[in-house]
Amino acid sequence: MRKLTIAIDGPAGSGKSTVARQVAGLLGYLYLDSGAMYRALALKALDCGMALDGESALATLARETHIELKPPSPEQAAAGVKNRVFLDVREVTSEIRTERVAEAASRIAAIAAVRQVLVAEQQRAGAGGGVVMEGRDIGTVVFPRAELKIFLEASPEIRAERRWKEHQEKGESFTLAQVVEEVRERDRRDRERQVSPLVRAADAVLVDNSAMDAEETARLIVLLAREREKEIV
Ligand code: CDP
Ligand code: CDP
Repeated sequence: MRKLTIAIDGPAGSGKSTVARQVAGLLGYLYLDSGAMYRALALKALDCGMALDGESALATLARETHIELKPPSPEQAAAGVKNRVFLDVREVTSEIRTERVAEAASRIAAIAAVRQVLVAEQQRAGAGGGVVMEGRDIGTVVFPRAELKIFLEASPEIRAERRWKEHQEKGESFTLAQVVEEVRERDRRDRERQVSPLVRAADAVLVDNSAMDAEETARLIVLLAREREKEIV
C-alpha cells in the first residue's frame, strides 16, 4: 500500500506534536516537527544577540545553519521526547522548549526569506512520503498535495491550560494568565502575518480536540489515513 504524506496544522497547544507523534507511531511513519526548526534557528539568533526583525541577516543565518531532526531513542521517547533537534552540531532538544524561544520563533517565522530556506529543508526531509509533518503551513505551503490534511483546533482556554500544565510539570512558575496571554499573542502573529499565515487549507479536515485526549485524536486521524490509503492505491 502506498504511504501517505500527512500534514497536521493548527495553533499552539492544539496537540499537533503529541498527536502527530502518535499517528506516525501507529502507522509506522516518520514524524517531523517543523516548528522545532523555527525554534532552533530562533535560539541561534538569540544566542548571537541578533535583532529578530533583521530580515537579511536572519535569512543569511538560516542559509548558514544546519538543522536536523532525528527520531528519539526508546528511552527518550518514553520520557516524552518526540524529535531530537540538532542545531549545527549541538543537540538543542530541550533548550528550544521555552516561552522565550517560542516567541522568538514566531517573530523570525514572519520573515519570507527565512521561511523559504526552512520550507525547502522540510520538503527535502519529507520527500518520499510515509511522513507526518506538523506545523502552521504544512498543508498550504510545504506539502500542498499531501493526501491527508488535518487542521487541529482546541479552544484558546484549553490550549493555554495544556501549556500551563506543562510548565508546572517542568517546575516553571508562570501564571495561567501569563500563558493565556503568550498563546494569544503568538496565535495573533501566526494568523495575521503576510507570509504563509496559519489558515486551514480548503481541503483540510477540521478536528476540534477540545474534548478529546491525544490518543483518541490520534486514533481518529489514523482511521482517516487508512481510508485515504485505500483510495489512492
Ligand atoms: O504541538 P502543539 O503545540 O500543537 O501541542 P502539544 O505540544 O502536542 O500539546 C500540548 C499539551 O496538550 C501536551 O502536554 C499534550 O499532552 C496535551 N494534549 C492534551 O491534553 N489533549 C489533547 N487532545 C492533545 C494534547
Ligand atoms: O509547539 P507550538 O505549537 O507552541 O509551536 P511550534 O510548532 O514549536 O512553533 C513555534 C513557532 O514557529 C510558531 O508560533 C510559528 O510562528 C512558527 N512556525 C511556523 O511559522 N511554521 C511552521 N510550519 C511551524 C512553526
